Amino acid sequence: MNHTRSKRARTPGRPGRTLLYGLSLALALPLIGLSATVARAATDYQAENAVISQGAVATNHAGYTGTGFVDYTNVKGSYVEFTVSAAAAGTSSLTFRYANGTAVDRPMDISVSGTVVASGVSFPATADWDTWVTKSVDVRLAAGSNKIRATATTDNGGPNLDRISVGAAPDTQAPSRPGRPACSAITENGLTLTWGASTDNVGVAAYDIYEHGNKLTETDGSSTSRVLTGLSPDTTYDLTVIGRDAAGNASPASPAVDCTTAKSTDTTPPTRPGTLKVGEVTANSAELSWGAATDDRGVVAYDIRSGTAVYKTVTGTAASLTGLACASPYALNVVARDAAGNVSEASNTVDLTTKACATDGGVPSSIATVSSGWTIPWGAYWMPDGLSALVTERDDFRVWKVTKDGTKTQVGTVPNAVTTDGEGGLMGVAVDPDWAANHYVYFMHTASEGNRVVRMTYNGSSLTGYTVLLQGIKKNRYHNGGRLAFGPDGYLYVSTGEAQTPDLAQDKNSLNGKILRMTTDGRAAPGNPFGNYVYSYGHRNPQGLAFDRNGRLWEAEFGNSSKDELNLIKPGGNYGWPTCEGACDVSGMTNPKKTWNVSEASPSAIAIVRNVVYMASLRGERLWRIPINGDTENVGTATAYYVGTYGRLRTVVKVPGADQLWLSTTNADNNGGEADGADKIFRVSID
Ligand code: GCU
Ligand code: CA
Repeated sequence: MNHTRSKRARTPGRPGRTLLYGLSLALALPLIGLSATVARAATDYQAENAVISQGAVATNHAGYTGTGFVDYTNVKGSYVEFTVSAAAAGTSSLTFRYANGTAVDRPMDISVSGTVVASGVSFPATADWDTWVTKSVDVRLAAGSNKIRATATTDNGGPNLDRISVGAAPDTQAPSRPGRPACSAITENGLTLTWGASTDNVGVAAYDIYEHGNKLTETDGSSTSRVLTGLSPDTTYDLTVIGRDAAGNASPASPAVDCTTAKSTDTTPPTRPGTLKVGEVTANSAELSWGAATDDRGVVAYDIRSGTAVYKTVTGTAASLTGLACASPYALNVVARDAAGNVSEASNTVDLTTKACATDGGVPSSIATVSSGWTIPWGAYWMPDGLSALVTERDDFRVWKVTKDGTKTQVGTVPNAVTTDGEGGLMGVAVDPDWAANHYVYFMHTASEGNRVVRMTYNGSSLTGYTVLLQGIKKNRYHNGGRLAFGPDGYLYVSTGEAQTPDLAQDKNSLNGKILRMTTDGRAAPGNPFGNYVYSYGHRNPQGLAFDRNGRLWEAEFGNSSKDELNLIKPGGNYGWPTCEGACDVSGMTNPKKTWNVSEASPSAIAIVRNVVYMASLRGERLWRIPINGDTENVGTATAYYVGTYGRLRTVVKVPGADQLWLSTTNADNNGGEADGADKIFRVSID
């Protein structure tokens, strides 16, 4: 195991585990490129105008295009033949629009000018004869005229065929990995990053520059350097570069480089802020104001703190502090900071107590350590008998049985797992609802070719067997998703990240940036909205999945630089990324139920107890409590617990048969900077 222990983007004067990316507000963040996959012109050929052998033009089912569709005669060998012209020889994509209102597949052979180029192509059932879907096959066409024939291979004949569209085959080849970046011209606030060029079959359109998993900026594909401005002095930035082509394919992340900005020559802290005063206090909020501080070079921010734990950072001299726990005492102070990270003397401390709690749903009342000695425990899932849980460790690939009292025993490791020197590795785990009969358990892990969902056998004390259920989920250093959960429908739900390739999230044919729904033997769940594995799309890096008492799926995902999201997932829903981060007003995109600044959340797991969503937050180092408003689709005020007390919080699961949560930390990784074995699992009681 190879943990790099370098210090990550930590601003001076801010000791402790709090990870700050250290980007000052002055850094201009260009909008994430909205250039979706380049649409390549396609030509349509209507089936009713093609040559038909054993079939008839029909109009008795709604939704066809043109003047009708072809109803194949239900015999083997019935066919439709299109005459298609191509400007030049090369690979084209044929997209068949068809309906199949039966329960069985209607496979066909596809031939080009007499040669079968794809045999037994599947045309699976659609919901009914009025539901038309597409199926694409890439074929080589000759220059000029080509005869494309689709011939039924079973006695059922072909499906009802509406048309074919012929277009250039999409570019699916990603640029090569950029060469190791280097920093030069380092100043207090900026540096020049240069890297080795990527190569690409079509051309590199842009380079994305990331600090950890967050995109800072981009350049066009012809430059291999970028001046970064607005950085904080004496701060280490962990930088990688990803090449991207016009079709949206992204390269693997370049090797990372740690670059530290120059120490500031400014050693003079701002003056102490003027008197801190408390205004209105509710159950969950408090209004605060104070007098301005001054500084020789300028005050850049005020931190509102409890002791030295920062609750909120603002630029003005007043703040509304929300998300406070009800009926709880707070002792707060404020400090001023300059760009060099010099921190003023703390203001006076004010004491306040928030108002009484609403009784609905309960609140965290006590917390105790269940088990320690962990290294990045990532997934946790209770056995159906509720007596023990399976817990995974991300970077060691170990799997443990942990009983309710915290006794832990290793039951095995997951083979073929690799890390990504980032967020990949062994991630989610789920236990088959029918485990007592079949002994199946499921894992999501990173492998050499990408992320996989696999099934193993667990007899209660050891893991054996290994079957890949789904692969081809792209990986990258960050944004690998990874959560698994069984729904009340008995299907396995899988959260996948966009692998630092934002456009994949909007591509309904990609497995990335999605919630997937599948059967326990690895097929797309029947009834999925697009006839494939995809259940919802437009996600960036979702890691939180939980079902509520109404069987509805809630999801949490990491935003890029501004907003994290809690979403209520509907089948077929588009949750916006990368067009929207957080809420926006774009037709066809579903807004989150709640958003947070990434510094106050960066959520991984969620769990639901008594109709309240609990969300474990890494960078925010807190547990958010978000009550669902009865059985509506809305949530109430979010409140935070344990801010900065236990470090980065990764996983939260409900304990079966109790109003309790298990809550785990991720402090033993690069961002947390603690030694292997430093992580813990806590029990939180809800009263
Ligand atoms: C039904 C349906 C037709 C279809 C046929 C079939 O008759 O209305 O449109 O082609 O089934 O099974 O092929
Ligand atoms: Ca390419």
